[in-house]
Order: sequence, then C-alpha cells, then structure tokens
Amino acid sequence: MSSTKPSSSPTPPPPPPPPFSSFFTANSAAAAVFASRRVSCIAPLVVAALFAAALVALLLDFPKLSPSLLVDSPAVDSSVVVTTAVDSLGSRQKERFGDVVAAYGRWDAEVGCGRFREKFARWGGNASAVQEYADGGARCGELRTRHVSVGVRGVTWVPDILDGVYECRCGLSCVWSRNVAVVDEVDVTLWESFKPPKTRKQGEPLRAFMDLEATRRPSGFEDIFIGYHAKDDVQATYAGKTFRITRSYRVAKEKKNDTLVYWSSSRCLPHRDALAKALISLIPTHSFGRCLNNVGGSDVALDFFPDCKMEENPIPHWWDHLHCAMSHYKFVLAIENTNTESYVTEKLFYALDAGSVPIYFGTSNVWDFVPPNSIIEGSKFSSLEELASYVKALAEDPVAYAEYHAWRRCGVLGNYGKARLASLDTLPCRLCEYVSKKGGRNAPAS
Ligand SMILES: *[C@@H]1O[C@H](CO)[C@@H](O)[C@H](O)[C@H]1NC(C)=O
Ligand SMILES: *[C@@H]1O[C@H](CO)[C@@H](O)[C@H](O)[C@H]1NC(C)=O
Repeated sequence: MSSTKPSSSPTPPPPPPPPFSSFFTANSAAAAVFASRRVSCIAPLVVAALFAAALVALLLDFPKLSPSLLVDSPAVDSSVVVTTAVDSLGSRQKERFGDVVAAYGRWDAEVGCGRFREKFARWGGNASAVQEYADGGARCGELRTRHVSVGVRGVTWVPDILDGVYECRCGLSCVWSRNVAVVDEVDVTLWESFKPPKTRKQGEPLRAFMDLEATRRPSGFEDIFIGYHAKDDVQATYAGKTFRITRSYRVAKEKKNDTLVYWSSSRCLPHRDALAKALISLIPTHSFGRCLNNVGGSDVALDFFPDCKMEENPIPHWWDHLHCAMSHYKFVLAIENTNTESYVTEKLFYALDAGSVPIYFGTSNVWDFVPPNSIIEGSKFSSLEELASYVKALAEDPVAYAEYHAWRRCGVLGNYGKARLASLDTLPCRLCEYVSKKGGRNAPAS
C-alpha cells in the first residue's frame, strides 16, 4: 500500500484515453460568430450580416471568416444596446495592461455588477449534472445510524488532510481515517486504485470504491461507487481545495503583459500536445511542464516567480507553486485528456482558483460546473486562429478582460457553488450520510 506516498499528480495514471473527438465541429453558425451566448446580445442586423458574409464565404470557398469582424472593428451600430464589455470587445482602444485590480475598477465604472447580474439572471447550468448538497436536511429521516466511521484502506493519492472527525447534517457524526488506531471497527472501507475485498457479509464494512478518471470504472466488488459524475452513488467533482494542501496559493496582482498564456503538462498525449503546439504558435505562451517545454526546463517556475517560494518548503515540487505561477498569467490553457461528459478536472479549477482565465478544451457541458463568463471555451471557435485573435483582443482590453472575473466579484456562480460542494472537500460527510442510509456495517450482505 502506498497511502503515504505523495503522488506527482492528483490522480494516478489512468488507462490510455480514447482518441479526442474533434473539437472543431463544422457548424456554420458557430463559425460565423463566437459562443451563442455572446451572440444573443448583438443586434440581429449584425448577426444577419455575418450569416450572409459566412454564406458568401462558403459559396466562394474563401478562407474562414475572420473574427476580426467582431474583434477589431469598433461598435458597428450605435443603436445596438451593449450590455457588457465582452459584447463590445474591440470597440475600445487597445491597451497594454498588467494590473488586474485597476482593470476591475475600470470595469466597475463602465459596466458594473448590476448589468452583469442582469445579463446572467436567467443563466444556469443543468442542475442534474451536480448532486444536490444543500437540501440534505429534507432527507434526515432516511438516516439509519447516528455515527459512521470510514476506514481509508487502499488509496494512492487521497490526501491525509481529510483524516478527521466531522459533524455532518442531521446530527450525524463521522470519522474518516486511514489509521486503525483511530477507527478499528469501521462501517465502510474506502478503496481507490486497489480493489476492495471480493465478498462482504452483514456486519462487515461496506466497500466504497473511488475512480475519478474519465472512464469511471467500477472495481466490480464495491457497494458504493464514487466518481466525478452525478449518476455515481456519491459524486466527487474536481472543484475542491483538498488535492494539494502544501501549495503556495499566492495570487499575483500584476499579470504578465507580454506572455499571455500559462501551460503546464507533463503527461504528453499526442492529441493534447498537437493542440497546444498549434496554440503556442499563435499566442505567446510559457510551457512549464515536460511537454513542449519552452522555458528552459521543468523546474524553472521559481526562477521566473521568486514570489512563489515558500520558506518552510525545503524541497519544492513543481506542483507546490503551480497556482502561484499561473496567477501571473492572464490565461491558462486547460486541455482535458479526453472529451467526456461531466469530466471537468483540476486543470480548469486550478486556473479559476489562481485568478486566471482558463482557455478550456474538454466536455461541452463544462458550463454545468463553472460560473458564467468565467472561461473561454476553445471549441466554440471555428478555428484556433479565431480563438487566438479573441484571446489577444481580450489581453489588450482591460475592461473586457475584467469581465471574465466578474462572476467572483459580483457573486454570480451558476452551478459552480454546487460543484464545489460536491467535491472531495465534502466527501467525508457525503459518504458517511450515504453509508448511514444503508445502515452502516449492519447493511445486508452484498
Ligand atoms: C508590461 O510589463 C512590464 C514587465 O513586467 C512592465 O515593466 C510594464 O510596465 C508593463 N506595461 C504595462 C503597460 O503594463
Ligand atoms: C443533465 O445532466 C444529467 C447528468 O449528467 C444528464 O443525464 C442529462 O442528460 C443532462 N440534461 C441535459 C438537458 O443536458
């Protein structure tokens, strides 16, 4: 068992993922404009003109319609009601900037939370994509035991910090520990990477098995399956804080104004590298990981950003200063291993935590897990060139850039708050509640 061994990535190496499905679906509407969400606020006239232009371009077999129509030209029609700054991206003077707090101030003056809230008043993710946590009180009657103990047995990366005593909802208490000196008679054992026992009699602990990889592969011997998906017995999203606890969470106030994108990947997958390589050729990017490293080694982040050093950390690992390093960039490239429904991993959430804007490639239901206007969805652009010009335009428009941080400043979270509540952070209580409903170790043989 390697439960005390720190792993170099939050999850163990999974089996080879299926080939990445094409991100760039040839949808002529999407080709003409950016995300439909943005389009809805542009005057129908503009949209019609763009469609016509797209049609002509298609008929004449012109190269792809350039996003510069939207990005570079000033506001097309003064009668157009521009609700927010992102809608009018390109209408302001281009400007080099690094100070995000100053950018926030400019956005407050030009747009403000009122308009932002109004724009997203009816915006919402699919509520079923995240298990409900807040309404647990309504189900107190289903609990069958007052106390549940969890024995963490065969796991590789589940952090020790989760060990502890919890007061859960409905007066349920819960102990979670890997140490038999803390909990000997357990109601449930937790397994991950290692398979649980093949059989279980009444009176023996229930078997919980966790697999947060895209494939959600049960062990075949568990009573409770924990995965990232809402349909699993207990959901554990990647939106929590507990993956890494020793890190520097310092967030830089000044973003770089020359190199726009941070990327770090050390598990080099051909499809991911190909996508990243193409983007790196279009947008100034620092690649810190092993894959496509362009900063002179995979241990140089602290040389770049001495402010990320932690005095009490004698042997820093790359992940210790990951958040702090990415906080120096306006954008963080986040490419999932695989494009699988509801599979939204730490790659994206780290960037949000670090006060950066993720450029995301992954599942199309990502909006069920993140706040409105918090990420740039790469697949919504008809080409990487379009994506690159959008990103560059944002990087030179402090007001529009600030709008990508408005969700947190204005408290417009969409499903994100729920996704955080269904993360590893709260797993002990949620697992204990589930086990209590089954009757703990007195649950019938399985
Ligand atoms: C751009 O970044 C450089 C280096 O950090 C800094 O000296 C300069 O003041 C920045 N320019 C602007 C306009 O923010
Ligand atoms: C909402 O999410 C659930 C769980 O992931 C999924 O089964 C369902 O199809 C989704 N509904 C829509 C409308 O996307």
